[in-house]
Amino acid sequence: MAETEPQSPPPTIRREDYRPPAFLVDQVDLHLALHPTATRVKAKLALRRNPAAAPAADLELDGEALTLLAARLDGAPLGADRLAHLPGGGLRVADVPAAFTLETEVGISPEANSELSGLYLSGGNYFTQCEAEGFRRITYFPDRPDVMARYTTTLEADRAACPVLLSNGNPDGAGELPDGRHWARWVDPHPKPSYLFAVVAGDLVAMRDRFTTRSGRKVALGIYVRKGDEDACGHAMDSLKRSMAWDEDTYGLEYDLDVFNIAAVSDFNMGAMENKGLNVFNTKYILARPETATDADYEGIETVVAHEYFHNWTGNRVTCRDWFQLSLKEGLTVFRDQHFSADQGSAAVKRIGDVRRLRAAQFPEDAGPMAHPVRPDSYVEINNFYTATVYQKGAEVVRMMRRLIGEANFRKGMDLYIARHDNQAVTIEDFVRAMQDASGTDLSRFARWYAQAGTPALRVRDAFDKASGRYTLTLAQSTPPTPGQPEKQPVPIPVAMGLIGPDGAELPGAGLLLLEEAEQGFTFEGLPAKPVPSLLRGYSAPVKLSGLSLEQLGFLAAHDTDPFVRWDSAQQYATAEMLRLVEEVRSQKPLALPEGLAAIFGAALDRAMEDPAFAAEALVLPSEDFVADQMAVADPEAIHAMRQFLRGALGTRFSPRLAALHGALEETGPYRIDGASIGRRALRNASLAYLARAEGAAGAEGLARAEQQFEAGRNMTDVLAALRVLADSDSPARQAALDAFHGKWRHDDLVLDKWFAIQASAARPDALEAVRALARHPDFDLRNPNRARSLIGAFAAGNPARFHDASGDGYRFLAEMVIALDAVNTQVAARLVSPLGLWKRQDAARGALMRAGLERILARPGLSKGTYEKVSKSLA
Ligand code: ARG
Ligand code: ZN
Repeated sequence: MAETEPQSPPPTIRREDYRPPAFLVDQVDLHLALHPTATRVKAKLALRRNPAAAPAADLELDGEALTLLAARLDGAPLGADRLAHLPGGGLRVADVPAAFTLETEVGISPEANSELSGLYLSGGNYFTQCEAEGFRRITYFPDRPDVMARYTTTLEADRAACPVLLSNGNPDGAGELPDGRHWARWVDPHPKPSYLFAVVAGDLVAMRDRFTTRSGRKVALGIYVRKGDEDACGHAMDSLKRSMAWDEDTYGLEYDLDVFNIAAVSDFNMGAMENKGLNVFNTKYILARPETATDADYEGIETVVAHEYFHNWTGNRVTCRDWFQLSLKEGLTVFRDQHFSADQGSAAVKRIGDVRRLRAAQFPEDAGPMAHPVRPDSYVEINNFYTATVYQKGAEVVRMMRRLIGEANFRKGMDLYIARHDNQAVTIEDFVRAMQDASGTDLSRFARWYAQAGTPALRVRDAFDKASGRYTLTLAQSTPPTPGQPEKQPVPIPVAMGLIGPDGAELPGAGLLLLEEAEQGFTFEGLPAKPVPSLLRGYSAPVKLSGLSLEQLGFLAAHDTDPFVRWDSAQQYATAEMLRLVEEVRSQKPLALPEGLAAIFGAALDRAMEDPAFAAEALVLPSEDFVADQMAVADPEAIHAMRQFLRGALGTRFSPRLAALHGALEETGPYRIDGASIGRRALRNASLAYLARAEGAAGAEGLARAEQQFEAGRNMTDVLAALRVLADSDSPARQAALDAFHGKWRHDDLVLDKWFAIQASAARPDALEAVRALARHPDFDLRNPNRARSLIGAFAAGNPARFHDASGDGYRFLAEMVIALDAVNTQVAARLVSPLGLWKRQDAARGALMRAGLERILARPGLSKGTYEKVSKSLA
């Protein structure tokens, strides 16, 4: 459903304007009679004036796309004299008493709901999504997180169409009705904000299991999916049980209902949703079979299942006062899911992946037109603020706090936070205060991390006085200006560090430095020789480090005891060389493989079998976007040419060893998803990708191996890695492989998404033509968010060389797609705008073409406020 809006700019909501709600709701009794086009929702609300708010005579309720059918106050019908419809769809009830019961009945059409917010249909089944502001599309309500109420929900539907009727809390009766209908009632004993409400109804089947909490509560677990998918829920269920046990072991937090249900839906705007007792998941984060899901999919499932489960305490029991506090639950819960996943396997490899994602998604956001603090000060559309900054940078801020106060104090702080604020809607200040009170550490300066946008730059210089053995490290920080924040203050930066001697041995002096000022010196006495500093171990702060020489970086890549710094130093080394090579491409000099880089690559190969998962990370060159981010003015063509050259040159130079690794790592047993097996597959497939780019016979052998691997079809990880190699090549086998893949998987939505994405991100000159053709393919569907993202998102955000084609065709394509999508699903449309917003880092000609794309979107009458906000801020 298109939001028809704004000819005049939509209003900005400001954090400083927060006022407590005028009315509180103690109890909500809902009755939903489900029907595809004419669902009826009866709501009975027990309301009372909020003693903590300014008195108001009238009650104002949020509402959107609702048809009011009836309203009663304390049992008496409300006439038109007492009711007013508000702009935007809300309802005002005039002159209400101090405490009263309001009953409303509304009609809604799930079938017409293409926005996928509120109650909607997917494959004939009913699902809801209420965060952030979807509940107002189900009934009239004060739809804000600081109104916490107890809910009873009765569902009524056709028994044949909807044998399964689910809502929040515990089941509380079910029965038959005339005309083939039936009902079920759910009672949620815990007060909750409306954004955690959920309903799922339809013809679904469950995979069931049990979990007993450590205090002995028996919890019935269910994962509801479409018929035929029951066999694909095992990994999600296993991840759920491990998450439940981990939260007990790590934080003493137990589950608090008799049932925990998850329902999977293939039309979903985001990854998943933590509704109380009834999580709703994008099928992408539930369904997995070795033949259909990659290792990355398995890891994604584990992480997202844990994330949503952990929200039960960090988000649901203790929730947000207002949406500016979103990182209170999201940053903290991402930190918790990262910690959980790190505990399940290799913590170092997990950390590398998390930092890679932070740099790929959050750093550009923090340097672009939408840059905002972890706790934003204003928004037009809150859905635009479910961002990498709120989630990933928010998690980094929690991680830094934990490092500053120590693990034991952090746990004490969590206990205190929950003891103080259980069943409350609170702020980020409340969280920081709990950590401060529990640890006795003053965190007032640290809280700047929540208020200040932009990625701090950390510069290091060092000096050694041979005579006295004194070594001095000077650290300096600065944060670039961001929209609305021209001046920045220093933030406390925890720098976990060590010193490495010339022989590669760790010297005394390792520890945590805290850089609080713009510049500070730290001295170390009694050193026999000048050490090399190992800084930001474990990536102890989300900053951009510079100042180390190539020589120092190469040394750390070879010798540091900290695996993160070893990996990162190699990446920084490669980045420096890649930037140099880009300049050579631009001045049309012949390129040569830098010997230092080749040595680092060779050393990684030498040690590859010691830790294949780490080696696989170490072999991947920094991405084209990452390199572009380091340039004053990017040059996507030159960057692409340079990176392709390096991949080919490394493949050629090391082809015998790459081929040997690819052979030695071949699997013969059954598919296993433990970290070691995933690591071996990752290393094997990284080797294949290089080999296939080698010159001459080695490259031909690489492509032949890719063909064999594709045909062997052992598991989706290997099949997709092989298909990616072929899709990127000019091999005659390319089209046949793509066709075979489509033929085999056309009926599996999640696999078909991969087929779209692989072609959209293929670095071939004809990629955009292919993408345009795919947008007309019978299997393409703009209404399905996963499909839209796997074509449009994969192209615009995952294929920089072709998206930034000098003709501007890539930009034009994205603008057209955003316009088309905005009429269907405004949330997904607004998200896809981001790549166009980064025009400042491109050259003037590209920048102008990108702006033209944005202006074209902006000129569209009836643009949604979410897309309007993204586009107008991108043009500013
Ligand atoms: N709270 C959910 C999560 O973190 C995200 C839901 C966001 N939905 C939205 N429409 N903005 O997993
Ligand atoms: Zn979340």
